[in-house]
Amino acid sequence: MANYDVIVIGAGPGGYVAAIRCAQLGLKTACVEGRETLGGTCLNVGCIPSKALLHSSHMLHEAEHNFAKMGLKGKSPSVDWKEMLGYKDSVIEQNTKGIEFLFKKNKIDWLQGWGSIPEAGKVKVGAEVHEAKNIIIASGSEPSSLPGVEIDEKVVVTSTGALELGKIPKKMVVIGAGVIGLELGSVYSRLGAEVTVVEFLDAVTPGMDAEVQKTVQRMLKKQGMKFVMGAAVQKVEATKTKAKVHYTLRKNDKEGMLEADTVLVATGRKPFTDGLGLAELGVEMTERGQIKTNAQWQTNIPGIYAIGDAIEGPMLAHKAEDEGMAAAAQIAGKHGHVNYNVIPGVIYTHPEVSSVGETEETLKEQGRAYKVGKFSFMGNGRAKAVFAGEGFVKLIADKETDRILGAHIIGPAAGDLIHEICVGMEFGASAEDIALTCHAHPTFSEAVREAALACGDGAIHA
Ligand code: FAD
Ligand code: NAI
Repeated sequence: MANYDVIVIGAGPGGYVAAIRCAQLGLKTACVEGRETLGGTCLNVGCIPSKALLHSSHMLHEAEHNFAKMGLKGKSPSVDWKEMLGYKDSVIEQNTKGIEFLFKKNKIDWLQGWGSIPEAGKVKVGAEVHEAKNIIIASGSEPSSLPGVEIDEKVVVTSTGALELGKIPKKMVVIGAGVIGLELGSVYSRLGAEVTVVEFLDAVTPGMDAEVQKTVQRMLKKQGMKFVMGAAVQKVEATKTKAKVHYTLRKNDKEGMLEADTVLVATGRKPFTDGLGLAELGVEMTERGQIKTNAQWQTNIPGIYAIGDAIEGPMLAHKAEDEGMAAAAQIAGKHGHVNYNVIPGVIYTHPEVSSVGETEETLKEQGRAYKVGKFSFMGNGRAKAVFAGEGFVKLIADKETDRILGAHIIGPAAGDLIHEICVGMEFGASAEDIALTCHAHPTFSEAVREAALACGDGAIHA
């Protein structure tokens, strides 16, 4: 048994970042993790492995579709799936070992095993009970299942199984056109699978700007992905090698069925809090099974904090990280801060999609007057040079004050470009501030400036 200032439960992006910040702020810190490696969902079965496969499959796509156009001729590469998975695993290992290194560097004890909280101020791991003045719960999330669908992680898989399939399927059905469905669907589509996405709603990527939703769906269709929209999946019948997905179209109750070698269920994730003993402790939860916290990430039990996917808000690694740093600051007697209005969202398809702040739809709902500056990547020289002229930057600013309210980008490096807007929003910038900032030529970021110019006197290259 040991005494700590802080014990963090869970070593995902929320937990490991909280632990590092606590240690940096001079607090004696331990982090409990039940997995064999640190890094949580994100590093082991989420962000990092999916981006590795998105990268390798995108490289194949470039070789097959764009190399010859640039005068790079020769045989297209063939896919060695085992080696591709090996590359993905090596990327995971580099990252999870990196966190182990950071724990050692910051003198954080990794308490290996599954933790529970028998009472406030105590964390039990295996037979050991440790004392902690403060506890941060960062236990993350898990895939949510669908009634009538049994997951075997072989034929009917969640994202976890989809990151290590035995072989590339000939036919794949993806249930859910959210972030996971589009990212992993596009991986397998680029690797040669016939991918059909079945979505309950009438638009992909719920919550995103409507114009972006239509554009991303059109672009993915052009790349070969098929979509069945407005379809409620009723059940999935699976054998050891095949599955049938039964659905009903919402508009006319017409029934349909799709056959597949692999079915990816990507219908959302839910907080994971099993085994922590929260009910016995009397920790308040939301109706959706999230741990309830106040604005300082405190639960209703003094000394117990919660962050990341286990609490309310978008289930994103960077949101969890920011809360980790902020909760650590609060515990150390400093002021922790997260601006929930400026949390970017990125979908790593090709082209990438990114978004921050308000959409036209949310502003209409609020009855707030706004203006839109839009610029197509067709007018960006650098984008045209790399076959990335499709897509646009859309900047939304307050009609009266010109203050930036949101931005939506679909196009090359959209996930990086969005941060110029995020920094601007944090500083309360106007569209004119971006428009008056010199942007290097030729860069994709010139498209952001042109969208800002379009909010005022007009874009130059439109
Ligand atoms: P988690 O990362 O889930 O970590 C929680 C950890 O706590 C786990 O390792 C778990 O084993 C451990 N744990 C739980 N209970 C206990 C216990 N009782 N004792 C000990 N250990 C425990 N987000 C992005 O921002 N960008 C992306 O590109 C992205 N891609 C994704 C791709 C996929 C396929 C998936 C599934 C998710 C992706 N996400 C992405 C979401 C991201 O992974 C999560 O938002 C993020 O991991 C949440 O961090 P967390 O620390 O709250 O929880
Ligand atoms: P999601 O919430 O993004 O999308 C789920 C989709 O499934 C929705 O479009 C929903 O309408 C649809 N759906 C629900 N029930 C259905 C049914 N019965 N039939 C058909 N469609 C149905 O969830 P997803 O993609 O599983 O991702 C989970 C979380 O992981 C997200 O919250 C996301 O934030 C995070 N994530 C983030 C990534 C990123 O930042 N790039 C990448 C992958 C995941």
